[in-house]
Amino acid sequence: MTGTRPIHNLALIGFMGTGKSSVGRLVAHQLHFTYLDTDQVIEARAGKTITEIFQQEGEPAFREWERRIVEELTRRTRTVISTGGGLPTVEGNLPSLKTHALVVCLWATPETIFDRVRDASHRPLLQEADPLARIRELLAIREPFYRQADVLLNTETRSLHEVAVQVVHQYHLAHAAHS
Ligand code: S3P
Repeated sequence: MTGTRPIHNLALIGFMGTGKSSVGRLVAHQLHFTYLDTDQVIEARAGKTITEIFQQEGEPAFREWERRIVEELTRRTRTVISTGGGLPTVEGNLPSLKTHALVVCLWATPETIFDRVRDASHRPLLQEADPLARIRELLAIREPFYRQADVLLNTETRSLHEVAVQVVHQYHLAHAAHS
């Protein structure tokens, strides 16, 4: 439920490989919104890649970067925000997003996620001997947070374009109800 809160933005949450960045760009284009990717903002500000931040500063430092960006997002309007997979699991981040954005979670099974991310080397949390097991483990921990989204959208059987159409539809419904 979005209740009576203001909705100026759209936030995409969900596990790595669920299509947040690709869908986010499509949705921003369709809504004529600015596109913002929290990982990209962090890399630009830190002057290093996410992998380097994890290696040199550790995960807690990365989560602190995320928390600061989330705080700043409250001042934005007409922005599609694509978030890192772990961002909603840190206390305060999801409630903050919900003060200004419709929060949509993109969902996929561990097997599908594994298929989508298996060739990518830029995700430090999946550089493990058994990435599928790690995906299952992390997804189980994160599921209760992802389920707090306003809308949960299964990406299993939909193309990126179809997912984007659904997200835009949900945004229009929520925005019409709250403007
Ligand atoms: C992370 C997901 C990544 C990135 C970082 C940590 C996570 O973003 O923020 O590697 O904790 O799931 P994507 O979900 O965009 O891959």
